[in-house]
Amino acid sequence: MIVFDNVTKIYHDTVYAIRDVCLHVDKGDLCFITGPSGAGKTTLLKLMFGLERPSRGSVSIFNRNLDGLNSSHIQDIRRHTGFVFQDFRLVDDWTVYNNAAIILEVLGKPSVYVRSRVWRMLKWVGLQHKVYERAKDLSGGERQRLALVRAIIHDPDILLADEPVGSLDEPMARYMMNVFFKLNKKGTTIIIASHREDPMMEYAKVFRMDCGSIVSTVTAP
Ligand SMILES: Nc1ncnc2c1ncn2[C@@H]1O[C@H](COP(=O)(O)OP(=O)(O)O)[C@@H](O)[C@H]1O
Ligand SMILES: [Mg+2]
Repeated sequence: MIVFDNVTKIYHDTVYAIRDVCLHVDKGDLCFITGPSGAGKTTLLKLMFGLERPSRGSVSIFNRNLDGLNSSHIQDIRRHTGFVFQDFRLVDDWTVYNNAAIILEVLGKPSVYVRSRVWRMLKWVGLQHKVYERAKDLSGGERQRLALVRAIIHDPDILLADEPVGSLDEPMARYMMNVFFKLNKKGTTIIIASHREDPMMEYAKVFRMDCGSIVSTVTAP
C-alpha cells in the first residue's frame, strides 16, 4: 500500500532527514515509527502524505509513484488518507462541530449525511457534550480527540498520526491507542509516529529509526 524505495530526504541541501529508507506498509497493517527526536519520523509521515517529496528514491502510495503525479492525483490520495498532526491544526475560533465537518463539506457530502456522521463520530470519542464549544476552549485531550475525528471522518484507508499520545496523560493515552486499535481491526491501515515506547507495539510492525535511517523492523508475531 505504501512502498519506499531507497528514499532520501535532504532539507536545505545539507540536512539529511531521511537516508536510504526502504519500507513496505501493507493494507491493514498497524505500524509504529519510533526513535529519538530528530530521527526523521515526522518527515517519513509527511512523505507518506505527499506533503514532502523525496530528494532521491521513490515513494509509492496506493501503487502510484508520487513522482509523476499532478496535484489532482495528490488530492485523490489525500481523500483516502487521514493525518493527525502533532500540533492538531484545528481552527481555534470554530466550533467542534465545524472543525469535524469541514472535510465532508469540502468533499461535497449531503448535509443530512454530514450532520449524522459528525454527531456519531463526536459521540464515539466522547465529545458529544462539546459540539458547540470553540476548539480553543477544549482541554489538550479533547483537542487531540477532535484532531483524530477530523482525520478519520471521511473514512480513510490510511491513517497517519504524528505523536498522537505525546501530550496525553496515561489513561487518555491508553484510550486513544485503543481507538487506533479498533480502527485497525475495522480495516484501516495505521501508521503512528511515537518517540516513546508503547505497549501496543507488541501487536504492530515497528520501524525503529535513528539519524534518518531505519535501524530495525520488527513484525508482530
Ligand atoms: N522543514 C525542515 N527544514 C529543515 N530541516 C528539517 C525540516 N523538517 C525536519 N528537519 C530536520 O530533519 C531531521 C528530522 O526531523 P523530523 O522528521 O522532524 O524528526 P522526528 O519527527 O523524528 O523528531 C531533524 O534534524 C530536523 O531538524
Ligand atoms: Mg516528529
